[in-house]
Amino acid sequence: MRIAVASDHGGFKLKQEVLEYLRSRGIAVQDCGTFSEDSVDYPDVVLPVAEAVAGGEYDRAILLCGTGIGVSMVANKVPGVRAAVCSDTFSARHSRAHNDANVLTLGERIVGPGLAREIVAVWLETGFEGGRHARRVDKITAVEEKYGARRS
Ligand code: RB5
Repeated sequence: MRIAVASDHGGFKLKQEVLEYLRSRGIAVQDCGTFSEDSVDYPDVVLPVAEAVAGGEYDRAILLCGTGIGVSMVANKVPGVRAAVCSDTFSARHSRAHNDANVLTLGERIVGPGLAREIVAVWLETGFEGGRHARRVDKITAVEEKYGARRS
């Protein structure tokens, strides 16, 4: 699985924790920045990564900011991206099983490093259940098409 990880300055420290955790498990990840705690605007960092997920360059992405909210808002503007803000493992599991989320977003000011590791683990290990959930996810795609957005 090709995984990208990115954050703004508000999620930088937790990004480093997530990268360290994934690499300690032997999971290859691409660090797409930001690379310091200097202030950046999260749309600038997140948009190229979300586009790369939608374009198939990465299978999944994990995006971080102070709350996880701003990065999720940007990512969800990109057709084909289904980003889920998760602050607990139940949401992480269901975002995969029911929503086929391909982007996980986390807030450094909300979630500590230990919980973040558990959320990431559950999110990566849980498969999409398909069935009735596939019909619903297809309807999300139909909403994108209704408003003129199509995958590149
Ligand atoms: C940056 O201060 C903060 O606004 C950002 O990291 C994020 O929480 C926005 O949603």
